[in-house]
Amino acid sequence: MMGGAAIRSFDDFRDAVSAYRLPRILLTALDLDLFTAIGSRTWAVPTLARRLRVSSRGLDILCRNLASAGVLVKSADRYRNGTVARTFLNAKNPAHRGAYLDLLRGQWEDWSQLTRSVKRGRPVDHDDPDEPAYRRAFSWAMHQRSLQVAPRVVAQLDLSGVRTLLDVGGGPGTYALAFLAKNPKLQATVCDRPPALEVAREIAARYSYGRRLSYLPCDFTKYPIRGRFDVIWLSNVVHIYSPSENQRLFGKLAAALTPGGRLLIQDAFLHDRNGLYPEKATLFAVTMLLFTERGNTYSAKDVSLWLRKVGFGRIRSLKLREGTEDWEEGILEALSLAPPAGTRTRPS
Ligand SMILES: C[S@@+](CC[C@H](N)C(=O)[O-])C[C@H]1O[C@@H](n2cnc3c(N)ncnc32)[C@H](O)[C@@H]1O
Repeated sequence: MMGGAAIRSFDDFRDAVSAYRLPRILLTALDLDLFTAIGSRTWAVPTLARRLRVSSRGLDILCRNLASAGVLVKSADRYRNGTVARTFLNAKNPAHRGAYLDLLRGQWEDWSQLTRSVKRGRPVDHDDPDEPAYRRAFSWAMHQRSLQVAPRVVAQLDLSGVRTLLDVGGGPGTYALAFLAKNPKLQATVCDRPPALEVAREIAARYSYGRRLSYLPCDFTKYPIRGRFDVIWLSNVVHIYSPSENQRLFGKLAAALTPGGRLLIQDAFLHDRNGLYPEKATLFAVTMLLFTERGNTYSAKDVSLWLRKVGFGRIRSLKLREGTEDWEEGILEALSLAPPAGTRTRPS
């Protein structure tokens, strides 16, 4: 069900279409950097409007809506930031998620191109994934996205006895660092494009366990993956690529695992027979249409089939505590077994 309720009447349809209003209000507040301007003070609208150089009428209506959504708090005719606005949305707070908020803000324009993207079956205009400035900004955004969820996920994955882990498409290394923090004897390597690895180095330098992180620059669609690892972590990568590209990648991962090694895949898997749910995973396929040439979201069943074809076995979905996951039922575990004759994909 979209938005929590199926559309069964024209009124439901109208309400579903009108659901763009609150997102637009929130994005306009971000465009104005309203939450930073409010900071830790309480403001009357005319004073805040002068400070932001916007109309009092516009700001009054905007703030009233932000307060009714719980982002601002209104008392008498004054406004202050609520907890989320004071921390994550306020550029002067150490918890600010600026890079991730910039990514979210940009998506309004990108989603406005959806009709053209549906006609073409491809993005209308998207950033070059190898462009260094874009890759750096995206990597910081990914770090801010995963900062809280990574330790929660990693806390539930048992790596006892594992010596080496490779984080493929690990970007800023947020997950690899969470694995290192939890497993004091582990050595981890993050494999990604060079500008993403620069960001990973900057983040790793903040932590003593960051010294156990190594860096492997590689475009894994073009080259084999060097080295052998006990565990490979592949998080939020499968949805970027087509089924055949993923199968080729899985073949390279099988070759980079020690015998009996373990592959852990985290992604927005679909779980029902018709491939519609969870809703977030289905919606995320649209993001992939807008931003990638061939990406999509896939059922856990199909991904398991691709894994078997390149020699993985004992595939199972790992259950994490509800509400602690990156994606609902979003982790598949597979063991590297001897490949069936003639089916192993050779690294290109
Ligand atoms: C959506 S981010 C996920 C980051 C991280 N794994 C996480 O779950 O937060 C995908 C990452 O895969 C990397 N990536 C995608 N295709 C790649 C390729 N062909 N070679 C190397 N890295 C790639 C991107 O640069 C990016 O850092």
